[in-house]
Parts: sequence; C-alpha cells; structure tokens
Amino acid sequence: MVVHSKAINKLAPADYAMIKKEHKQLEKYLADLHDACACSLSPAADATDCTREQQTSCQGRMPSFLFHIIELAGKHFDHEEAIMLSRPSISESYAYFRVHRQAHLDIMKNLQGLADNYFSVTKKSNTAEVYRLFYGKIAALFEEHDRLFDDPFIESTK
Ligand SMILES: [Fe+2]
Ligand SMILES: [Fe+2]
Repeated sequence: MVVHSKAINKLAPADYAMIKKEHKQLEKYLADLHDACACSLSPAADATDCTREQQTSCQGRMPSFLFHIIELAGKHFDHEEAIMLSRPSISESYAYFRVHRQAHLDIMKNLQGLADNYFSVTKKSNTAEVYRLFYGKIAALFEEHDRLFDDPFIESTK
C-alpha cells in the first residue's frame, strides 16, 4: 500500500502548525479518556471497585466522550485532507490521498459504531470494563493511523 508520498512536502508553516496542534488535541483527548473514570484505572478493577456514585458518574460521561471524539476527529480529518489537496499536483485521484482519506472514513465509521453500540455494551459490561474497552479501541485506531499515514505525512513535510 502506498502510505508515504514525497509529493506532499514542504507544508506551509501554518498548515504544519495546525496539524501538530490537532494531533496534540487528539493525544490529550486519549489521555483524558484514559483517566476519566477513576475506578477503571487498575487493570484488575471490576464493578466492586467502583462505588455506585462513581459508576453513575462514569456512565453519564461516556456519551459525551464519544460525541467529542467524533467531532474532533471529523474536523481534523477534513483539515488534513484539505491541506493535502492544497499541495501542487495532489488531486482527489492521487493514490496516496485516496488511501489516506479512506483510512479517515474507516476510523469515522468505527467511532460511529462505538457510539451506536454504547448502550447495548453498557448493559452487558460493568463501567470499568466499558471504559477500558472503549479507550483501548479508540487508542488503537489512532495509533495505527499515525503509524501508517500521519507520521510519514508529517515526516515528509520536514
Ligand atoms: Fe492526523
Ligand atoms: Fe490522517
């Protein structure tokens, strides 16, 4: 798969700064999600480690975490794609652009799927498990994307 393009290089400093800033926001989001539910932090934690109040509070906050990542990722992907397309000789038919955009679409579909399944998952699992599960899935989506697409993209701007 073509994941790296020398053709996308020398980004305008403002574009480079925006991508860096948005990646930092995504990292902060993941760190916040990781730490959001205090009773899910220990790997061995289960429902008995959470008080009823903690469980209710954690459960109440997950939908807004899911809504937030869909919004944050959607905006970031739009920016990244617009920046790619603004480079000379990059068009919608360019292979690197197409695979990178498809990877963004796949992430959005996965995030939407997590949000759609949230209520059925919470019925089956305890709060600590739900937080660990969702954090693990979301972090894995972005880690893989960075490794395959964004790191080489940023690399090529230096
Ligand atoms: Fe990105
Ligand atoms: Fe990307």
